[in-house]
Amino acid sequence: MADTAPAPSLGVVDGVPRCHHFDAFRCRSCSLLGTPRGRQLADKEAHARALVDSPVWLPTVAGSDTGFRNKAKMAVGGTVEAPTLGILDRKLAGVDLHDCGLHSEGLREALDRIAGWIRDASLVPYDVASRRGELKHVLLTESPDGELMLRLVLRSTALEARVRSRLPALRESVPALRVVTLNVQPEHKAVLEGEREIVLTDDHTLPMRLATGVTLRLGPRSFFPTNTVVAEALSDQALAWVQDLPDVRTVWDLYCGVGGFALHLAGPGREVLGVEVSPDAVAAATATASDLGVVADFVAADATTYVLASGDVPDLVVVNPPRRGVGPDLAGWLEASAVGHVVYSSCNAESLARDLALMPSLRPVEARVLDMFPHTTHYEVMVLLAR
Ligand SMILES: C[S@@+](CC[C@H](N)C(=O)[O-])C[C@H]1O[C@@H](n2cnc3c(N)ncnc32)[C@H](O)[C@@H]1O
Repeated sequence: MADTAPAPSLGVVDGVPRCHHFDAFRCRSCSLLGTPRGRQLADKEAHARALVDSPVWLPTVAGSDTGFRNKAKMAVGGTVEAPTLGILDRKLAGVDLHDCGLHSEGLREALDRIAGWIRDASLVPYDVASRRGELKHVLLTESPDGELMLRLVLRSTALEARVRSRLPALRESVPALRVVTLNVQPEHKAVLEGEREIVLTDDHTLPMRLATGVTLRLGPRSFFPTNTVVAEALSDQALAWVQDLPDVRTVWDLYCGVGGFALHLAGPGREVLGVEVSPDAVAAATATASDLGVVADFVAADATTYVLASGDVPDLVVVNPPRRGVGPDLAGWLEASAVGHVVYSSCNAESLARDLALMPSLRPVEARVLDMFPHTTHYEVMVLLAR
């Protein structure tokens, strides 16, 4: 175990991103490694422009080439004496990637120490092929302040007492840990986490203090963008657009997660409502609104069901759906409604384009690509639509 973070696997050599795991065919997740970052960005912008017909494209937000991920999702493999944190190969054997250079330095250092603690505590890695063992995944999130939330995904609660008894040793080794949980995922299928979460620490949420001045609360079972710098840019962009619009007094943030957009847009003269399917995320957003002293309501519901049943119509709607997009029912409601403006933030330009085709009365005014996921073909795109 190193005293400092292991050297990152990823670096930029002569302008070209290179990773020794990629070169050795151990991990091929970053499919654009070998493509200069400038070229990656140009290709993403061209892809977005081909799908979204906006008269104005603001300069692309790039963020860092390395160390930009605030979350590590590591499959646990190997043996109890030598656990691996990374991915499983085609034969379902563990591949160790704890030096993955996408992760921040704080995550890399903590993963190294957590691997040592797993070994010392004899937490047996789950073996997918034989269906034996307990520890399936290590999910680790770092806040902008460098504090950490660790979630250990286990097949059962068989090791709960052992984890609890070893918690002081873990916290001594990784002092930045603020939230530690066990997630129970008993099923033998390729899902990352189960329904049951056992929080082992006094703190249940990780404060995400953003450079925008807003501190969000992030709980274990809630979504947060994996690239904090780009998440801040998304909120800044939404606020810049909304502040420039006259007469936006009511805003709905659909698919609001822990309230990122809603809580940046809340303020004097603007009523904000967030809708999100995860009750934990809604509870966190509600608590943050109270921390900030702003008026914002949050509802745990399916976004489309809520909107179709509501009867109200806000001045502006923000939508930030999962990759599938908002779908025909919500797009149809937006098209037929009197909503004046929509801010659509999408991680999938193809589903965005499908949704936009269903709301021709709302036309793109400005758009922007934000490279949330460097070295992959994925990116975020935001569009301001006006009726
Ligand atoms: C891309 S995330 C956006 C979260 C948030 N806007 C942010 O920036 O952190 C999509 C969110 O939609 C939520 N979600 C998924 N399906 C939903 C649905 N049918 N209705 C409401 N929310 C849903 C997810 O739980 C997740 O928090």
